[in-house]
Amino acid sequence: MDKNSLIISLEDISFSYHGRVPVLDKLNLSFYQGDRMGLMGPNGSGKTTLFHVIMGLLKPSSGRVEIFGRHVREEKDFGGVRQRIGLLFQDADDQLFSPTVLEDVAFGPLNLGKSQDEAKTIAYRTLQSLGLAGFEDRITYKLSGGEKRLVSLATVLAMEPQVLLLDEPSTGLDETTEKRLIDILKNLNLSYILVSHNIDFLTETTDYISYMANGKISLDEESIPHTHVHTHKHGRYAHKHSLGGPHKERT
Ligand SMILES: Nc1ncnc2c1ncn2[C@@H]1O[C@H](COP(=O)(O)OP(=O)(O)OP(=O)(O)O)[C@@H](O)[C@H]1O
Ligand SMILES: [Mg+2]
Repeated sequence: MDKNSLIISLEDISFSYHGRVPVLDKLNLSFYQGDRMGLMGPNGSGKTTLFHVIMGLLKPSSGRVEIFGRHVREEKDFGGVRQRIGLLFQDADDQLFSPTVLEDVAFGPLNLGKSQDEAKTIAYRTLQSLGLAGFEDRITYKLSGGEKRLVSLATVLAMEPQVLLLDEPSTGLDETTEKRLIDILKNLNLSYILVSHNIDFLTETTDYISYMANGKISLDEESIPHTHVHTHKHGRYAHKHSLGGPHKERT
């Protein structure tokens, strides 16, 4: 697939749960090969719903979904989509279901027709690449929240997808692990859409940030806070950092 070809195209997509007010309301999105897009939006604005529509887990009430240039409508159309697009669920417990980490990470490759040995090799390799070597025999449900997050990512990456949909991947990660995740994402060389409420994390890992509100997506610079105030552990005065701008002391 060429760089800059259209991978995900959503046209006038509407969706509501059980006939309630629409969560997605004539939403449009064009996502291209090579894009690393951040997606922000308030709780309940429909980011997770959007991912589930792209994966075919929810069916829009109207609109057109095209993925890799193909119009996808019914369950049978989404088989190929799910091989090429990996979804990291917001809740790791939706992702992990096997007794051990190795079984969970090998499950995807096995499902894609790899042999037991190949699947195991891929699983070992993927776990190692995420700094999780030695986790193979750990009991999945006994992992900590952050460990589950990373193992979930391993299950997605083991399928060798072309595109990732990452639903709040940094939630529950400590500072060191979050930094590791940033490095991993930067080195992946994959296209992805990344949902997060953390502007610093998004700034590090994505090329542009879109905003979701009122059932639609906009690239609205105005609505994204570009400066923030915080205090350092050392130093007496709070000050502002502008992204890419000068370091301004507050007087
Ligand atoms: N299975 C469901 N049944 C009914 N309503 C739902 C269901 N899942 C989500 N909703 C509602 O749809 C809206 C959008 O939810 P969604 O999970 O997509 O938001 P979100 O932007 O991902 O939020 P968050 O930032 O909290 O993860 C919310 O009002 C939510 O209550
Ligand atoms: Mg969500």
